[in-house]
Amino acid sequence: MREKESRPSRRVFLSGATAASVYFWIPKPVKGYSPAELAAMTVNEKVKPGVSKWDLDTPALCVDLDAMEKNVASMQSALKKYGLPSRPHTKTHKCAAIAKYQLATGSIGICCAKLSEAEAMVAHGVDKILLTTSNLSPGKIRRAMTLRKSHRDFIQAVDEEQNARDLSAAAKEAGVVADVVIDVAVGTRSGIPAGTDAVALGQVIDKLPNLKLRGILSYDGGVQHAKGFENRKERALKTIGPNVETFDMMKKAGLNMEIFSGGGTGTYNIMHLVPGFTDVQVGSYLFMDMQYLAIGSESGDAVYSDFAPSLTVVTTVMNNRFPGRLTTDAGAKALTLNTPNAGVIGEPGMDYSAGSDEFGAIRFTAPPTKDYKIGDKLEIIVPHCDPVVNEYDQMFGIRKDRVEVVWEITGRGKSQ
Ligand SMILES: Cc1ncc(COP(=O)(O)O)c(C=O)c1O
Repeated sequence: MREKESRPSRRVFLSGATAASVYFWIPKPVKGYSPAELAAMTVNEKVKPGVSKWDLDTPALCVDLDAMEKNVASMQSALKKYGLPSRPHTKTHKCAAIAKYQLATGSIGICCAKLSEAEAMVAHGVDKILLTTSNLSPGKIRRAMTLRKSHRDFIQAVDEEQNARDLSAAAKEAGVVADVVIDVAVGTRSGIPAGTDAVALGQVIDKLPNLKLRGILSYDGGVQHAKGFENRKERALKTIGPNVETFDMMKKAGLNMEIFSGGGTGTYNIMHLVPGFTDVQVGSYLFMDMQYLAIGSESGDAVYSDFAPSLTVVTTVMNNRFPGRLTTDAGAKALTLNTPNAGVIGEPGMDYSAGSDEFGAIRFTAPPTKDYKIGDKLEIIVPHCDPVVNEYDQMFGIRKDRVEVVWEITGRGKSQ
């Protein structure tokens, strides 16, 4: 059912019309550079010129730098028009080099999902971190406050009274007054429900000696991928309503409400309509993926064309011996999810399944553009960008088909 629904839009964007760059692989013997060999050719993250992305050992996680930079510029100029700054969520890329780029291009700070991601960012010189998930264990609470001690701009999310008390005690132990925001739920994922409970928590925090309340965060994960702009807008504005009221109640109660943060790639052009909203936590806009491409734009396009897909996985054909099928070397451990299916750039008639651990299975639903041989390369738009990045040690920054930089994925595997 899902496959049928997504078929027309898959055809449009996989035909190359919206893909960041479509450079077709011309079969020739390739060297196959390993990460270690590339590291030896790299100075200050810059690779000695001349290595083609098609020459990389695969599966290789690549980001088209022109497309990514354009996505950042498009987001920044749209948000400027709306009068809202961005506080990008780095759960999408987990990469300190990219976080620094986002900060250098006008973002007011960044978000991290996990404490260990935030620690990795800080260890690589990134600051102004909002940790959007609360920490529950005493060990993590202590570590968060240690982080706060060395980084004045660190802000911690909290959504429960005992947790706030524990944080305050740990902050006291660390000798700091720590900034916190209350995670006020939209939907049922994380956060304290909107309304009087949230206000009461604000009042408790306000009185705790070692915490400073900065405001609230409210991220609506459910609405980001709602199909069709008008539908998305209606849902986003409706679901955030109780949080707007809560924000107002907190203000009226005399609480410090500098921050009302949330929103994502699907709602970046909606959140400015939310009274009091201060910044947008956009993540996936940087890379895009098959999930986001399918949600539709404000212009009415079936494809979400506001941002170009910049993140791809280059994979190698391992087997062509069975009619109507190919096997590649990018399976679940290279692409993680299989919903919706990965998209093969330039080959809309390929149905790609990453269901098996190390192998990708392609079925032809229409004749491919060429006769694929063993060793040929294909380039894939991933189903969902965030978890894919977590599978790789580094990503290759590509400009016009050439490897320009190798970025360490500093938060790779940092899931705690
Ligand atoms: C709290 C929070 N903020 C922001 C984002 C970024 O959202 P998106 O990738 O849709 O832009 C996420 C993603 O899951 C999130 O959990």
